[in-house]
Amino acid sequence: MKTYAICGISNRAVGQFILPLAGNSKLPEYGDFSQYGKVVAILDADRERVETFNRNQGTSFPFFAPHEFDKMIAETNPDVIIVTCHDVMHAEYIIRGLQYDRDVITEKPMVISGRQAQAVMDAEKKSKGSVRVAFNYRYMPAHKRIKRMILDGMLGKITNVEFNYMLDTYHGASYFWRWNRDREQSGGLTITKACHHFDLVNWWLNDLPESVFAFGARNYFGPGGAYDPNPKNGKLPAAEQKAACPYWQRWNERGLQAPQDDHLKAHQAAFSLPTKVQYPNEIYIYDQDIKIEDTYSAVVRYRNGASMAYSLNASAPWEGYNLAINGTKGRIETTHYTAPSRCPFPVSDRQTITWLPLFGERQILDTRHVEGGHGGGDQVMKWDMFVSPSKESEELEIYAGSEAGAHAVAVGEAVWRSVAEKRQIEIKSLFNT
Ligand SMILES: NC(=O)c1ccc[n+]([C@@H]2O[C@H](COP(=O)([O-])OP(=O)(O)OC[C@H]3O[C@@H](n4cnc5c(N)ncnc54)[C@H](O)[C@@H]3O)[C@@H](O)[C@H]2O)c1
Repeated sequence: MKTYAICGISNRAVGQFILPLAGNSKLPEYGDFSQYGKVVAILDADRERVETFNRNQGTSFPFFAPHEFDKMIAETNPDVIIVTCHDVMHAEYIIRGLQYDRDVITEKPMVISGRQAQAVMDAEKKSKGSVRVAFNYRYMPAHKRIKRMILDGMLGKITNVEFNYMLDTYHGASYFWRWNRDREQSGGLTITKACHHFDLVNWWLNDLPESVFAFGARNYFGPGGAYDPNPKNGKLPAAEQKAACPYWQRWNERGLQAPQDDHLKAHQAAFSLPTKVQYPNEIYIYDQDIKIEDTYSAVVRYRNGASMAYSLNASAPWEGYNLAINGTKGRIETTHYTAPSRCPFPVSDRQTITWLPLFGERQILDTRHVEGGHGGGDQVMKWDMFVSPSKESEELEIYAGSEAGAHAVAVGEAVWRSVAEKRQIEIKSLFNT
C-alpha cells in the first residue's frame, strides 16, 4: 500500500485526495481508495485547518508546517508527495519531493511560470522520482472521445482550433475573492484556470505551442469594475459592497443558495475549514489590489503548423465552452455547459459532439454522463492514480508529466505577458523547450 503526504489541505485536496484515501463512508461520492493507499502527513501553513479536519472527520493526520518538510519526510517516510496548496508554492514542494527521490503528484497548474517549470524539470532529471500533473479535464468523457476521434484520423491533419471559454457570474466572481486573484499566487486566470484548456489542446493535437499573441483587459472585477459600487472613492466595507453588488445579490442574498459547485464546497463540513491564515482581512471582488485581467482574446501557433483562436471571459451569463476543431478531413463542433444547474436556460448534462466530414453528412455523437466532479473526470482519474491506469487511459496517453505541465503553463504565461508587453511571445523564451 502506497503512503502519501499532502502539501496543502485545500478544498481540492480534501475532495480529490484526502477523503478518497481515508475511505470516508460519510461522503461516499468521493470514492473509497483506502485499500490502495493512505495519507501519512499533511503539511500546511494553517495548523487549525488540519486540526479542524481531523476533529470533524475523526481522523488523526499529523500536521507539519511549511518549514518542516524535512521533518515530515524523516518522520513519516511517504512514498508520494501530493501537492495541493495554492499555485505559487507548487514548485517548491515538487522540487523538495524530487530531491528526496519521491514521486510527486501535483494539482494543476504544475507551476506558475516558465522559470519555475524549468526548475522542476531540472530537478526531475536529477531525481529517481517523477512528476505527474493531475490534469483531470483530460478525463471528461467528451474530451477522451475527441482525442480518440483525432487519433483515429477522423479530422485528418489539424489545421486550427476555435475555443471560447466562459466562467459564469458565480464561479468567475469567486476567483476574485480568493487567492487566485493575485498574479503572484496563481499566475492569473490564464494559468490557474486556462492551463486546463491549453493542456487539452496540446494533448488533442499531440503538438507543442510555439508562439502566442493576445489582448486582454480587466472589465468586471477590481477597482472601477463594471459594477464597482464606489469606483471613484476606493474601498467600502465588504458588507456595503455586497449589498450593492449584483454578483453577490444574484447568488447569495435573501436565502438564495447557489447550487453546488465543484470548486467551492463550503456547504459540506469536510470542506468548511478555517481561513484566517490565508485571508487575515476581509476581501472582496472590487479591491484595489486586483490587477489580473478577466477578459482575453488570444491566438496560439503550434509547431506543426496548426493555430488556435482562444478566448476567456470570467463574467458570462453561462459557464462552459464552445469548441470547434478543423482538420483536412473535417470538423468537430461541441458545446459544454459545465454548470447546468446555474445555466439561465435548460441544458442537458450530456455533451454531444458534432462531426462534419469535409465532403459528407453530419453525424451527432453522444457521450456518456458520468457522475462526479468535473464531468466524472475526477473519479476516473483517481482509479488511474491510486490503483493503475486503465487500458483506455494508456491508449489515449492520458498521463501528463512535467513536460505537459510546463507547456500548459507556458501558454498561459505567454498570454498575459503578451497583453502586458503588447507583443508576440515565443514559448522558447519562457523555458528551455
Ligand atoms: N483540477 C481541478 O479541477 C482543480 C480544481 C480546484 C483547484 N485546483 C487546484 O488545487 C489547488 C488548491 O486550490 P483550492 O482552491 O482548493 O485551494 P484552497 O484555497 O482551498 O486551499 C489552499 C491551501 O493552501 C494552504 N497554504 C497556504 N500557504 C501554504 C504554504 N506556504 N504551504 C502549504 N500550504 C499552504 C492554505 O492554508 C490552504 O489550506 C490549486 O493548485 C488549484 O489550482 C484544481
